[in-house]
Amino acid sequence: MGAHVVSLPGDGVGPEVTGVALGVLSTVCDEAGIDLEVEERLVGGRAIDEAGLPLPSATLDACRGADAVLLGAVGGPKWDHLRGALRCEAGLLGLRRGMGVFANLRPVRVHPRLANHTTIRPEVVRGTDMVIVRELTGGAYFGEPRERSGTGPEEIARDSTVYTAAEIERVARIAFALAAGRRHHLTSVDKANVLITSQLWRDTVTRLSAEYPEVTLEHQLVDSFAMRLVQRPAGVDVVVTENLFGDILSDEAGVLAGSLGMLPSASLGDGGAGLYEPIHGSAPDIAGRGIANPYGAILSVALLLRHSLRRDDLALAVEAAVDDCITDGNLSADVGGSLGTEAIGAAVRESVVRRLAAAGSPR
Ligand code: NAD
Ligand code: IPM
Ligand code: MN
Repeated sequence: MGAHVVSLPGDGVGPEVTGVALGVLSTVCDEAGIDLEVEERLVGGRAIDEAGLPLPSATLDACRGADAVLLGAVGGPKWDHLRGALRCEAGLLGLRRGMGVFANLRPVRVHPRLANHTTIRPEVVRGTDMVIVRELTGGAYFGEPRERSGTGPEEIARDSTVYTAAEIERVARIAFALAAGRRHHLTSVDKANVLITSQLWRDTVTRLSAEYPEVTLEHQLVDSFAMRLVQRPAGVDVVVTENLFGDILSDEAGVLAGSLGMLPSASLGDGGAGLYEPIHGSAPDIAGRGIANPYGAILSVALLLRHSLRRDDLALAVEAAVDDCITDGNLSADVGGSLGTEAIGAAVRESVVRRLAAAGSPR
C-alpha cells in the first residue's frame, strides 16, 4: 500500500508541529509497511514571501492530486497588513474551497490527566468526548456581497451569510452518520431566533432527521450553547453548526481539553483528498522556540490515517500512544509541563511502535 501526502507547514509554529506530526506518520507507515511519499508545498505567509501569493496554483493542484493534506497553520504579524485575497487566511480559505472539503470534524476529548489543568473545574470537564462538525465552505466566510466602500462616517462594510439547503444537507448528513456511530445524539446549533439562514438551517436539519430515527436531534441557540459548553460539556455528543459558529465554539472547546494545542481536525468532502490540521493558529507569541504543543497536529495524523488511508487500526494506535504519553506526563508548557515539541514527538513515536508491536504489526 502507498500513500501520497502533501505537507503544508505554513507559518509560525506550523512547521514545528507538522514536522513532529509527519515524523509520527512516517514511523507508523514504516511499521505498517505503507510506502509513504511526502511532498512539501508552500501556503500562507511563506508562499507570499516566496511566490507572491498565499495559495500558489501549484499548491492547490498538488493537494487535489494527493491522498491527504497535512497543514500546520498560516498567518502572523509580518503579513497582517495585507488585505483581501493577499491575506494568509485567504489562502487557507481558498484551499478549503478548492479542495471541496465542506465538513470540518473537530473532536474534543479531555484526557483525565489534563482535567485538573483547565481553568474550568475538573468535575465539569471530566468525561467530555464530543465532535464538533463545522460547515467549512459556506456562510459568512464566503458569502457575497462582501464589500467596503465610502469614506468618513459614510464608510460602509458588508459581509453576507449565505447558505443553500443543499450545503446544509450535505454537512448535516455527515453529522447524523457520525452520531449514529457514537452516542446517537446530535445537537444542531444555530441562531434561528434572529437569522433567516439559521431558520433554513433548522428546517433542513429537522427534515433530514426523519431519515435517521436512531439519532435523537436537538436544536440549541448558539448563545446558550456557548454557555452549556463550559457548564455541562460531558453531555454533548455530536454538534453540527455553521462555519462561523463552529470556528468560535471549537476554540472555546479547546479550553476543555486543557489547551488549544490539543485539538485536531479533519476536513472532508465528497471523496477526494482530506485536509488535516490542528485547530490552532500560527501562535506567533511562542513560535520559533520549540515549545509548541504538537498533540493537535499528531492527532490530526490519526484522523488522516482513519479518514483518508482507511486504517482505523493505525489511527487508534496513534490515539492510544498519545493517551499513554499524556498519562506519563509528556507535556508542553501550555498544559503545565516543560517538554519541547520534538521531545513529545519522540515519546509518541516510541509509544506507537510499542503499541503496534503489541498488536502484532498489522501489515
Ligand atoms: P492562535 O491559535 O495562533 O493562538 C492563540 C493562543 O493559543 C496563543 O496564546 C498561542 O500561544 C496558543 N497556542 C496556539 N497553538 C498552540 C500550540 N500548539 N501550543 C501551545 N500554545 C498554542 O490564535 P491567534 O493568536 O488569534 O492567531 C495568530 C495567527 O494565526 C493569525 O494570523 C490567525 O489568522 C492565524 N490562524 C491560523 C489558523 C490556521 O492556519 N488554521 C487558525 C487560527 C488562527
Ligand atoms: C481556523 C482558523 C481559520 C478559520 C482562519 C485562520 C481563517 O481560525 O481554522 O479555525 O477561521 O477558519
Ligand atoms: Mn479558528
